[in-house]
Parts: sequence; structure tokens; C-alpha cells
Amino acid sequence: MSAEVLDTNDLHSGAILCGFSSVTSNVRIGKFFHANMYSYVAHDCVVGDYVTFAPNVHCNGNVHIGDHAYVGTGAIIKQGSAEKPLWIGEGAVIGMGAVVYTDVPPFTTVIGNPARAFGN
Ligand SMILES: CC(C)(COP(=O)(O)OP(=O)(O)OC[C@H]1O[C@@H](n2cnc3c(N)ncnc32)[C@H](O)[C@@H]1OP(=O)(O)O)[C@@H](O)C(=O)NCCC(=O)NCCS
Repeated sequence: MSAEVLDTNDLHSGAILCGFSSVTSNVRIGKFFHANMYSYVAHDCVVGDYVTFAPNVHCNGNVHIGDHAYVGTGAIIKQGSAEKPLWIGEGAVIGMGAVVYTDVPPFTTVIGNPARAFGN
């Protein structure tokens, strides 16, 4: 059981990469990132400080995630593009099983497919 970090990534101190998690390429990750098992961060993502992924999170390429965001089990985040990254705001919470197609504002919880704001 191992995690894999492919090429040209910049991981800050304190990262915890659980079994079968992956960071692919050209990714920047801040302090104390936690990727629980089977989660991945794909190419060209930028992840802030103190971000947590529960198990089996699929974060596709060109997604930018703010500090202290939390992503629940099995959530899927659509890819952005180099010209227009998809943004997950600071302190946002993405519920388990959510499928995120559009930006999530800071300090907002979203659930469902398509992910929509919940209880804010
Ligand atoms: C989104 C979340 C933060 C909301 O937590 P909460 O405020 O305590 O919500 P509740 O459990 O009180 O649920 C409130 C309602 O939302 C629904 N709901 C909660 N989470 C949901 C989710 N992820 N997707 C769809 N509906 C959800 C509940 O069924 C409930 O519906 P009801 O009012 O019709 O009964 C939480 O449910 C969640 O998804 N957390 C992530 C859990 C996780 O991944 N843990 C990993 C541990 S390693």
C-alpha cells in the first residue's frame, strides 16, 4: 500500500498522503494537506493550507482550493482549465458524494449532484 506523487509537484510540509492516494503533476499544495485513502489531486491544481480530503475524493485538473477547505468522501470536482481554473473557496465544505461542476464560494457548504449550497 503506498501513495504516489508523480512529477513537478511542490508539496509543503506536513502533508499526509494515505494509502492509494495520488498527486499527479504540476500541483502546488500548501501546509498540512491530508489526502485520505484513494483520493487524488490531478494536474495543475493549486491547494491551500490545511486542506482535507476524505477518502476517495477525485479532484480533477486545474482546480484551485482555498485554505481550510474540506472535501467529503467520494466527492468529484470537475476540471477547470488553465485559462479558467475551477475555484473552491477558503473554508468551503463539499459534502460526501457531491459532484462539483462550478465554483464554490468561500465558507459555503455544498451537497448533491450537481452540487448546490446547503444550510448556509
Ligand atoms: C454536508 C455535511 C457537512 C452536512 O452535515 P450536517 O449539517 O451535520 O447535515 P445532517 O447530517 O444534519 O443532514 C441534514 C440533511 O442533509 C442531508 N445530507 C447531509 N449530507 C448530505 C450529503 N453529503 N449529500 C446529500 N444530502 C446530505 C441529510 O440527509 C439531511 O436531510 P433531511 O433534512 O432531509 O433529513 C455532511 O453530511 C457531510 O457530507 N460530511 C462529510 C462526511 C465525510 O465525508 N466524512 C468522511 C470521514 S473520513
